[in-house]
Amino acid sequence: MSGGPYRVEVMHGVNLDQLGRRDPLLYGTLTLAELERRIEQDGRELGLTTSFFHTNHEGAFVERLHSLRGRADAVVLNPGSWTHYAWSIRDALEIAAVPALEIHLSDVQRRESWRRVSVIADLCFATISGRGPDGYRDALERVRDELARIGDAREGGGR
Ligand code: DQA
Repeated sequence: MSGGPYRVEVMHGVNLDQLGRRDPLLYGTLTLAELERRIEQDGRELGLTTSFFHTNHEGAFVERLHSLRGRADAVVLNPGSWTHYAWSIRDALEIAAVPALEIHLSDVQRRESWRRVSVIADLCFATISGRGPDGYRDALERVRDELARIGDAREGGGR
């Protein structure tokens, strides 16, 4: 990690471009663009630089993960339903080898049983779910703390 603000990529997967049309009880009323603006603002307040990516195409999501290294210090990802079964995304996240936080707007642990499975959870240093848009601010704070912790450990370890 070099000097300057930490760079955090926020990635949204399949169907998340439909926020605003999806069940507001589960997902709230913000559109994805509105959510991203809010995250960008929160990031600025926390001293983070944010970048954003959304796609409905699994291969495009995989390729974006491939491109992360060197471009982002950490990733906050909400892969939508891919979370629950997309092993290609798990492999790509492992290849990306950047600190990752999994996030969901809805509380996936309290919904259908298939949503309780995450194929990426064990690659992520934290999972936030069920806190709606506010969860993203928590996510950025957790990422900032994690990057600071890793940085301190590196300095302390002389690496
Ligand atoms: C989601 C939860 C997933 O189970 C679902 O398929 C989504 C959105 C969430 O943010 O709550 O598309 O990731």
